Amino acid sequence: MHAASNQIQFEDHRLIVPANPTIPFIAGDGIGPEIMGTTRDILDAAIHCVYHGQRQVHWVELFAGEAAFSRTGSWLPDETLAGLKQHLVAIKGPLATPVGGGINSINVTLRRELDLYACQRPVRFFSGVKSPLNQPEKIDVVLFRENTEDVYAGIEFGENSPENAAFLAVFKDQFPQQYDRLRFPNSSALGVKPISREGSKRLVRAAISWALANHRHRVTLVHKGNIMKATEGGFVRWGYEVAETEFTGSVYTMNAYKKTRAEKSETAAQKEREDADTKGFLIVDDMIADAMFQAAILRPQEFDVIATTNLNGDYLSDALAACVGGLGISPGANLNYETGAAIFEATHGTAPEMAGKNVANPVSLILSGALLLNYLGWVKAADIVVKAVEEALAQGSMTADLAQPGVAALTTSGFTEHMLNAIKGKA
Ligand code: NAI
Repeated sequence: MHAASNQIQFEDHRLIVPANPTIPFIAGDGIGPEIMGTTRDILDAAIHCVYHGQRQVHWVELFAGEAAFSRTGSWLPDETLAGLKQHLVAIKGPLATPVGGGINSINVTLRRELDLYACQRPVRFFSGVKSPLNQPEKIDVVLFRENTEDVYAGIEFGENSPENAAFLAVFKDQFPQQYDRLRFPNSSALGVKPISREGSKRLVRAAISWALANHRHRVTLVHKGNIMKATEGGFVRWGYEVAETEFTGSVYTMNAYKKTRAEKSETAAQKEREDADTKGFLIVDDMIADAMFQAAILRPQEFDVIATTNLNGDYLSDALAACVGGLGISPGANLNYETGAAIFEATHGTAPEMAGKNVANPVSLILSGALLLNYLGWVKAADIVVKAVEEALAQGSMTADLAQPGVAALTTSGFTEHMLNAIKGKA
């Protein structure tokens, strides 16, 4: 690995980025290598366009997934984990999760190993892209999904396994009332859904901090607390607790509104809410997940920042992405705001049927790269990348997955060339 002077550091809650930082990349499986090559070329061109060689990323390749397995026999070699930990910030393409065979998802393992607890997914419309909505241009949502807990913890006891039998025996003995709620106790596979106070609070804290720093107006906590009162209900209670205790003077919660309405009057609550609006406070409210799905599709323009638990976030981010043209253009970041560790990644999978055919859409990874540049504080270079994507799509320059009927689609390399020319033209 490279000299310490090229290493990104995190001190006093701030990222310290040298002019030539070493940033690892994992190309990924399937279409990964194609879209990663494109993305690195485009990021390098944008950086050069703004900083004329004064700043430059030194990319180093790390291996995971099939490429790692064929080299080392391990899907996620220790060296890769060590490299990611050392350099703090990385970008990765999609990784295949082998089905069955007891191999855990590499993505989930990476998030757990680096404690990347916040999955940030911005969803916005790009002019020129097909959308099933009437007014997709009004969508500009940033979703924060908790990334380390919930049913993704991977604590499961398969039907008829010895672990299942042992777990059920304790369950029956210690919690007979809950045990009686099992509809088919003799053939149930079981899973554990951990949602913690710490995990929920740090995620909501991250969402609110980001919303305030980016002049957003509303953070909506999405949960299923009406049914899962302890876990999802805990998430929303702890979320409000963070908002009310740690952001006093800049946030007004619908929890406070409801309290005032119950203890004083509707008029007093309305007055409080109007005062908060006048002062430009961030509003924190909550919504039950099923209602949120309906609203996200019918009235997505009403939402701003969303903070939610792992499974809700998984579904909701894909549903929102579909509203603006699909996963091929939606970027993602996995972050830990306490250590500075971050992995930027495409939100789609390996699309194996497209691999090697030069037809994959690289936009999701390119925009994830723009998020990475923003994270480094290289905002002008990030803006150039986003602008070039906006212009390309608005002109109808796009890959086959997005192309309108009758309009010729670009290949991956054709799109890359178009982007590189556009970026060079901005120099
Ligand atoms: P997928 O995202 O690979 O494919 C779903 C559909 O979207 C397919 O029709 C595919 O052709 C299309 N698609 C995806 N990316 C595209 C792109 N950039 N350009 C054009 N079309 C694109 O999801 P699928 O099929 O469920 O998963 C395939 C593999 O990817 C699995 O092994 C899965 O575990 C893995 N995966 C990895 C992820 C990651 O590394 N973050 C995320 C999701 C899936």
